[in-house]
Amino acid sequence: MNLEALLTDRLAAAFAVVAGTTVDPVVRASQHADFQSGAALALARHLGRPPRDIAAEVVAAADLAGLADVELSGPGFLNLTVRDEVLAAAVEALDDRLGVPPAAAPERVVIDYSGPNVAKELQIGHLRSTVIGDALARLFTFAGHDVVRVNHLGDWGTQFGMLIEHLLEVGGDGYSLGDLTDFYRVARAKFDGDEEFQTRARLRVVALQSGDPATRTMWQRLVGQSEVDFMAVYDRLGVTLAPDDFVGESFYQDQLASVLAELEEKGLLVESQGALCAFPPGFTGRDGEPLPLIVRKSDGGFGYAATDLAALRHRVREIKANRLLYVVGAPQRTHFRMVFAMAELAGWLPDGVTAEHIEFGAILGTDGKMFKTRSGANVRLSALLDEADQRTSTPEVGIGAIKYADLSSDRRSDYVFDWDRMLASTGNTGPYLQYAYARIRSIFRRSAEPGGPVFLTEPAERRLALALLGFESVVDAAVAQREPHRLAGYLHDLAVAFSGFYETCRVTGSPSRITLADRTATTLRVGLDLLGIDMPDEM
Ligand code: ARG
Repeated sequence: MNLEALLTDRLAAAFAVVAGTTVDPVVRASQHADFQSGAALALARHLGRPPRDIAAEVVAAADLAGLADVELSGPGFLNLTVRDEVLAAAVEALDDRLGVPPAAAPERVVIDYSGPNVAKELQIGHLRSTVIGDALARLFTFAGHDVVRVNHLGDWGTQFGMLIEHLLEVGGDGYSLGDLTDFYRVARAKFDGDEEFQTRARLRVVALQSGDPATRTMWQRLVGQSEVDFMAVYDRLGVTLAPDDFVGESFYQDQLASVLAELEEKGLLVESQGALCAFPPGFTGRDGEPLPLIVRKSDGGFGYAATDLAALRHRVREIKANRLLYVVGAPQRTHFRMVFAMAELAGWLPDGVTAEHIEFGAILGTDGKMFKTRSGANVRLSALLDEADQRTSTPEVGIGAIKYADLSSDRRSDYVFDWDRMLASTGNTGPYLQYAYARIRSIFRRSAEPGGPVFLTEPAERRLALALLGFESVVDAAVAQREPHRLAGYLHDLAVAFSGFYETCRVTGSPSRITLADRTATTLRVGLDLLGIDMPDEM
C-alpha cells in the first residue's frame, strides 16, 4: 500500500478547495508524525495569507475519514498519523508482490549493461555496469515492464586481426585459449614489435570484414571462449544475463551502411579530414571547436559511435523499445549525449521513446585513487570474487557484500572499495541484511506458530508496520530515478526497525507479531532479490 499516495490524493482534494487550484500537498515521511505536509507554507506566500489559516482550512476540508488523523503544527504543517487499524490491515494483506501493482503503462525497456570486450577479462571496471544494470533489470521487471537485457559485447574491430593471427601461430584448432588476458597481451606485444606480423594482422582484418570463412571460424572461437568466461563470472555473481542476451557490436555491422545512408540523406554528415562526421549542435571541445561524432573513419572503417547509432535504431525499430537505458560509466557521457542527439535529429527517437545514459561513478581504493592491484594492474573480477570467497564462509556473503556495497552507494558518486567496511556485520552492509533475514528465519525454524491478525500496541510494532508499508513507494522511486540505492537504504532501515521491534517485543506466543516477522522476512527476501543479492541458508 502506498500510504504517501493515498494521503496525497485525499489532501490534494482539500488543498484544491482552499487554493482554488491544484496543489501538490508534498506528503513526506516525518519525525514528528507518520507523514507531514508542508504545502500550506509555500501556498501562503503565494496567496498572501497566514499559513496557519490555510492549513486550518485544509484540515476542515480534508476527508481523511478511516485513513488518518491530522493535526496542525508549528507555522502551518499538517501532521498525519495513519490509523492503527489501517496499518494493521495493510500489513496483513502484504503478499509476495508487497502491494506493488503492475505498471499502469507497461513499457518495453532495453537495458544495455556489462558490455565487456572479447579476449579480455571482466575487470573491476565492469562491476558497476553489471551489478547496477542487473538490479535495474530486476526492478523494472518487478514493476511490470517488459525488459530486454542486452550485453553489448565489444566483439568487433581491428584488434581481431592480431588476435586471430596470434591464434593461428600458436596452433589454431587444437589450442586451448586458457587465460585470455595473457593471450591478448602476447598478441599485442607481437603486433607492436613485429612489422611482418602487423601486415598479416591488417590483412586478417580485411578477411574478417569480407566474411572469409576460415577467418570467421577463428573469430567465432575467440568470441565463444570469451562468452563462456563471461558467463562463468555472471553465474558466480548471480547476474541474470544469459547467452541469448549477448548482442555484440558485430551484430550491427551489416546495418552500418544503411545508418550512414540515412544520415547522409538527411544531410547530417560532413566530410572532415577524410572521415564522415556528424556535428550535433551544442557540443564543443575544449578549444570551443564543434565536436565531431565520427560515423565513418578516414580508412573507411566504422567505429564505436556508428555501432551505437545502429544499435539504437535497431532497438527502437526492430525490438520496438519505448525506453533505452545504457548503464555505462560517467566518462562516456559525451559519447551518449552525442549519439542521442544524432538519433533525435535522424528521427530514430520518435515521441514516446526515450534514451537515457544511466551513468555511474568510479570505484576507488582505500587510498582514494582508482582501485588497482598492488602492482598497479586492473583488478580482474574473477580474482575479486576469489578473494571474497576466501574472506567469507559462504559465497553468498562475500558476493552479497560486494554487490550491496556497490548498490547502496548513490550510483552517480564514486565509492571506496573497502573489504572491512563492506563485510562488517553491522551498519549498512550486505551481511547485516542477510543476518537480519537469517534471524527471522530462525524464529520460524524454532516454532511453527501460525501468524494471525495484526494488532499494533507497542511503538516499535507501529514503526515496523510503517516501514513495511514503505516498500511500494521506494520501489516506485528506485524505478523512476533508476536508483537501486534507494531500495538498499530502505531495506537497511527496515532491518533496523525489525531489530528495534525484536528487542522490545516478545514474538513467540503472539500471532500478530509472527505476522509482522513474516512480512518482514518476505520484504527483505524480495527486496534483496531485486538487488540481486542471494541469501545464505544459514549464518
Ligand atoms: N564495451 C564498452 C566498454 O568497455 C561498453 C559498451 C557499452 N554499451 C554501449 N552500447 N556502448 O567501454
